[in-house]
Amino acid sequence: MTPYDFVSDIMSTPFDKPTIESRLSVRGAKWHRDASDIIPLWLADPDYPLCPEIKQALRDAVEEEFTVYGSDTEARDSMSAKIKRVNKIDVPASQIMLTQGVTPGMWLAARHATRPGDEVIVTDPMYYPFVSQTQIAQTHTVRWNLDIDDGYKFDIEQLKSLISSKTKLIFVCNPHNPAGRVMTKEELKGIADLAVDNGIYVYVDELWEDIRNDGRKHISLASLNPEIADITISGWGFSKMWGVPGLQAGYLAATNKVIFESLTKHAYGVLRGTNNMGKAMAPVICSDKLDYWRNDMNKYLGEVRDLVTKRLTEMGDITVPNLEGTYLLFPRFNYGLTSAELNKVIFEEGRVSLGTGITFGPKADNHMRILTATSKKIMNEALDRIESIIPTLEKMAK
Ligand SMILES: Cc1ncc(COP(=O)(O)O)c(C=O)c1O
Repeated sequence: MTPYDFVSDIMSTPFDKPTIESRLSVRGAKWHRDASDIIPLWLADPDYPLCPEIKQALRDAVEEEFTVYGSDTEARDSMSAKIKRVNKIDVPASQIMLTQGVTPGMWLAARHATRPGDEVIVTDPMYYPFVSQTQIAQTHTVRWNLDIDDGYKFDIEQLKSLISSKTKLIFVCNPHNPAGRVMTKEELKGIADLAVDNGIYVYVDELWEDIRNDGRKHISLASLNPEIADITISGWGFSKMWGVPGLQAGYLAATNKVIFESLTKHAYGVLRGTNNMGKAMAPVICSDKLDYWRNDMNKYLGEVRDLVTKRLTEMGDITVPNLEGTYLLFPRFNYGLTSAELNKVIFEEGRVSLGTGITFGPKADNHMRILTATSKKIMNEALDRIESIIPTLEKMAK
C-alpha cells in the first residue's frame, strides 16, 4: 500500500488518471482559455491530482476557519528548516519572506540591485517575466544565449564577455524554464565566481528544484560558498511540483541581512506575502512527508518525457533537447517557420495549444514549448494531432 492508494481507486498511479473529459469538468485557465476541442499544453500547470496531504491541510484550514489575519511564523520556520535540509543554506526564519507566488522575487531583486540605465543579464531563451522586470526597472536587458545544438549549455566564457561596469544583476533560473536544463556544479560555480569577482548581485529562481529527470541533483547557487551566498537572493515556491499555482505561495531568502532588510523596505506596504491557504500548506510541503509523491511524480514525468522525445523525434524534422528538469520541453521545428506560423497550424489544424518560442526570446522563434505534465493518454492524443499537421509544415517549409 502506498499513501495515495485511497486517491487512486482504479488506476495504478494518480498521474495516469487525467482524461480530457475529467480536466474539462473542473475550473482552471489552462483547459478553458480556448475551445473545448483544444488540448492545452501551453501553460506550466500540471494535470495531476492534488497530493492528499496538501488537500487535508487545506481542508483543516477551512474547517478551523483560518481566514483571520494569519501569522507567518509557522510557515517561515518550516521553510528555514527545509532550506537548511534540502538546499544546504543556513538562513534564519527572520530572513525569509513569504511572497505571492515566486514572481515578486524578480521585481524585488531588480528594485534592490539596480537603478535605471544599469544592465541585467538574462538568458535567451528565458521565462519572460524576468525580462519584463528588467524593463519595469528601466534597465538594459543583456542576453546570454543558450543554443539547443549545444545542449542548452550555460557558456561561462560568453557570460564573462557580457559583463560590463554597468552590470548589476544576473537573473538565474535553475532548473531552467524553458530550456529544461538542470545546471551542473561547474556551470553554477562559473556564474558564482564571475558574480563574486565583479560584485554583481544574483537572483536565482529555484521554483523547479523538485522536478528532475534521471536522478539529477539540484544544487542551490547560494550553497556553493559564503561569498556567493552573500550577494544572492534565492526564490522558491510550490506552484509547479504541487499543482497549486492558484494559491500563489512562494518565498525568498537572503543570508545577507542588509540585503534582506533592503528587500523588506521595498516590499513594505506593496507586497503582502501570501494567503492563509499558502501558509497552511507550507509546513506539510516543507517537511519530508511528501517525498513519496515527489519521487512517484518524477518517475512518471520521466516516462512521459521518453514518450514525447521518441515520438517528436520520429514524426518530423524536430530537434528535441534532453529534458533534464522541469516538465517543459522546448524543441526546435526545422521548417524555416516562425513560432507564430507554427502556432497557427498546430492550433488551428492540429487543435493543440503550445507556447510560442518568440515569447521566450528572439533567438527561439522557431521553437515551441510543450507541457509534459499530463497523462500518457492525453499526451499521446496531443502527439497524434501534432503528427497529423507535419505534412502541412512540410508544404509550408521555407
Ligand atoms: C521559473 C519560473 N518562475 C516563476 C514562475 C511563476 O511562478 P508563480 O506562479 O509561483 O509566481 C514560473 C511559472 O512557470 C516559472 O517557470
